Amino acid sequence: MTQASAIVVSTSSAEETRAVAGAIAPLCVPGDVLLLAGDLGSGKTTFAQGFGRALGIVDPITSPTFTLVRQYELDGAVHAAAGQPLKTLLHADVYRLDSLGEIVDLGLGELVEDGAVALVEWGDVAEPVLGDGSLSLRLDAHSGNGNPGDLDDRRTVTIGRSGPRWADRWARLAEVLQPWAVDG
Ligand SMILES: Nc1ncnc2c1ncn2[C@@H]1O[C@H](COP(=O)(O)OP(=O)(O)O)[C@@H](O)[C@H]1O
Ligand SMILES: [Mg+2]
Repeated sequence: MTQASAIVVSTSSAEETRAVAGAIAPLCVPGDVLLLAGDLGSGKTTFAQGFGRALGIVDPITSPTFTLVRQYELDGAVHAAAGQPLKTLLHADVYRLDSLGEIVDLGLGELVEDGAVALVEWGDVAEPVLGDGSLSLRLDAHSGNGNPGDLDDRRTVTIGRSGPRWADRWARLAEVLQPWAVDG
């Protein structure tokens, strides 16, 4: 059994989505891969900004659409308390990649084994190669007036996990996300 029930949270502003990311970041350990899914403008890069901020990154985090992967060196002390310092944050955007082979070629799998945590935008397409053990986060925007593209500031974030990797942390994750939880 690898399927856990999803954790669903909702946010009402970009800053709130950053706060959700900032609550998740301290639970991450080297080797973790977070797959961010959701349409353009749903908030994947915004999530990455909050995640990076919580890890002490001061450089502005922008979409890596053209660079594919950005690498941020972390002050390992940030997470030394957990006994497993994070050395690096990888922020990838695989939107422009056409094949799973190209995603494999990015080498994210090897990089995270060496002390990194990875955030992958459009991660649902990477699921077949990076999904095992990953945390998946799907961001859904709401259309306030029913017109597609005319979005308001609410987002639903549906979090799932694959495999046992997050099993021990699942209850803790639900706990830290409680302030934004959608019940039922
Ligand atoms: N609740 C929210 N969560 C995240 N972003 C939001 C929210 N409300 C409004 N926004 C805005 O939506 C946009 C999301 O853009 P971005 O994070 O680049 O999306 P993506 O990377 O998924 O294409 C930003 O302009 C952000 O300020
Ligand atoms: Mg983006």
